Amino acid sequence: MPADTVSAEARLTAFLNWATKNGIKSPKAELRYVGPDAGYGFFSIDQIRDNEVVIEVPQAVMITSAMICEIPAYNSVLQGFKKALTPAEVLALFIYVEKLNQNSSWKPYLDMLPRDFSTPLYTMPELPVEHLPAKARTCYQEQVTEVNDLKAKLAPIIEAFPDAAPFDETHYLWAWHVVNTRCIYCENRCHELVDTMTKSGQNIDDLALIPLMDMLNHDNEPQCQPGFDRRAEAYRVRAEKFVSDGAQLYVAYGSHDNAKLWINYGFRLPENGLNKVELPLSLILQLAEAVGVKPNERMLQILNDGDNYSCHMYDGIVRIPEGLCQACRLLKMSKDQLKDYNRILQKSRLDEKFHRAVTGLALKILSKLSELLGKRRDAAPDELKWLWLEQIDIVEGVLHPARER
Ligand SMILES: C[S@@+](CC[C@H](N)C(=O)[O-])C[C@H]1O[C@@H](n2cnc3c(N)ncnc32)[C@H](O)[C@@H]1O
Repeated sequence: MPADTVSAEARLTAFLNWATKNGIKSPKAELRYVGPDAGYGFFSIDQIRDNEVVIEVPQAVMITSAMICEIPAYNSVLQGFKKALTPAEVLALFIYVEKLNQNSSWKPYLDMLPRDFSTPLYTMPELPVEHLPAKARTCYQEQVTEVNDLKAKLAPIIEAFPDAAPFDETHYLWAWHVVNTRCIYCENRCHELVDTMTKSGQNIDDLALIPLMDMLNHDNEPQCQPGFDRRAEAYRVRAEKFVSDGAQLYVAYGSHDNAKLWINYGFRLPENGLNKVELPLSLILQLAEAVGVKPNERMLQILNDGDNYSCHMYDGIVRIPEGLCQACRLLKMSKDQLKDYNRILQKSRLDEKFHRAVTGLALKILSKLSELLGKRRDAAPDELKWLWLEQIDIVEGVLHPARER
């Protein structure tokens, strides 16, 4: 149970009673408190067969933008604003306003929501973005822009709810996090007050908050798969394999590396096979130059014309990535060899001397990369060092066995 044990127990009981009253079923699983970091999780209380339904939530209890827009109080306020909100924005508005309403019929659910979040946006207002790896930085900056844009849009709407005014920035950030960390994509009814088109005319996926289902934690190899069942008119989470009694049940929130999990959800996995180091061609060339190998014009032309040199290194894969090997083959070719470069690139076995030269260059490039990542780690504040360490571990995972040989 969370720190305030008594009220936490009372909140859980009230929520489970509310869930049962609203037709939510989960006969073979129960909510358990995992700890302050993960919060609650869902655990099997019996063996569960492949394809068995683990949680069923009737459509009427799913919180969607169309459902919210039909609640008279929300409908009349939203009618007064010219610019329609997106589904995520309507949900954030609902969570913000409803949480302040002590008489809300959703109170038992809202009371179970976390009181705070461990994302950098929530916990590190002064995050030094220059110390984030490039992809993480972009992801974080996009999030900041989204939160600020929505704040400007929602503040006047919130102020139009007499019980919710004045606009409270901390409460808004909390509501935004509830939506961002718990929503699930699903098809929904359209509503005239909801904008489901992007500026470029693409459909925006609709979202839903699904009580109880949103208590499932994430794993890259989950046993459960959620989906809307039209015939049952309910959202159902099914086991996709046999689950033993007492196991925590997981779904996958998406294919996220740890940086993305941390930025979006505030946690990271101890082992995440989706962690990766990006090696775009531009970086390969920069590193090659740093170890004294400068491509001639012909090499550059071939490299820039190809689309298979940029590559990734994944956690747990200890081979030199193929794109880097191919780039190194080119960088090591003589003028004569370059005339027939395609054949040499396609060869499955290189002659021993050339093979050694290519592998040697690839390892030198990776050593240089490890050294540069080490400098970024040393310069980063303590709370961000792990982002660089994970990258270094991936590169060292390839270098280590090579050094042993
Ligand atoms: C959809 S909610 C899941 C229910 C949540 N544990 C709760 O108590 O409300 C998503 C949040 O759960 C936590 N979480 C999910 N999967 C996790 C995991 N594998 N390890 C640690 N925390 C996790 C994170 O705080 C995340 O933002």
